Amino acid sequence: MSWAVRQIYPEPADLDDRELAARYSHPDQGGGAPYWLRANMVTSLDGAATVGGRSGGLSGGADQQVFAMLRALADVILVGAGTARVEGYRPVRPRYEGVRWAWLRAGRLPSPPIAVVTRRLDLDLESPLLAGSPDHARTIVITTEAAPPVRRVQVAATADVIVAGRGHRRILTEGGPYLLSQIIEAGLLDDLCLTVSPVLAGPGADRIVAGMGPLRAPTGVDARRLSLVHVLADDGHLLCRYVRPAVG
Ligand SMILES: NC(=O)c1ccc[n+]([C@@H]2O[C@H](COP(=O)([O-])OP(=O)(O)OC[C@H]3O[C@@H](n4cnc5c(N)ncnc54)[C@H](OP(=O)(O)O)[C@@H]3O)[C@@H](O)[C@H]2O)c1
Repeated sequence: MSWAVRQIYPEPADLDDRELAARYSHPDQGGGAPYWLRANMVTSLDGAATVGGRSGGLSGGADQQVFAMLRALADVILVGAGTARVEGYRPVRPRYEGVRWAWLRAGRLPSPPIAVVTRRLDLDLESPLLAGSPDHARTIVITTEAAPPVRRVQVAATADVIVAGRGHRRILTEGGPYLLSQIIEAGLLDDLCLTVSPVLAGPGADRIVAGMGPLRAPTGVDARRLSLVHVLADDGHLLCRYVRPAVG
């Protein structure tokens, strides 16, 4: 299936599906780095991560296709419990959202699991995310030793509860802002796919990174610099990919 999206940086080009996927290929494919942690986020022109409390109002056609493609490329999708609760997260549905990108999963299971990060384990045990995940991609709940023990047992009935990672190499986080802030602060972010939506949201919403003090760069400057890899444009949306300078 061919679906052209316009690249405007580094040089103008119309990209078909294979060329588009190549723009987002992981450097660890075929061996190399132990893992690659990519974030996929969307922002309004004035920096808001949500409109009306959710990110959906910022999305567009190409953004949704790249969202699905990045899921197809990933081994696991890491999401904060806040986002899972607010956005009503469900297991990835390969037959619907991944149909165009099924070829990207050749040799792997049809869809990646969702891994929810939570301290409190305040998750709806009856929700599709916990009660309805497929056997090949059972939802993972990543928690801490401090989580309520009774709750841990209850959640373990429908999901795989773990305290640490389990060897997934291509990690895609879809936020939210509080989880992303900790990933950045820990120096773990390799890759940021950021869609800039042609929307002014006004005051009140978090930015895509929230809930902590200034970011300390090695130079002592209160910011971290990333390298721009490409910019795609579709219907007023700009789909930008940035990576750590060292791997740019
Ligand atoms: N614009 C975008 O691209 C985008 C993307 C995603 C989400 N969003 C928006 O962001 C909002 C939700 O994000 P959020 O920042 O409030 O929440 P979040 O980052 O999705 O999740 C925060 C929660 O994750 C758990 N958590 C975070 N760090 C943890 C750690 N180190 N150890 C254990 N658990 C940890 C805690 O869950 P417990 O409370 O269960 O302990 C915490 O309350 C929603 O409005 C959503 O629409 C926007």
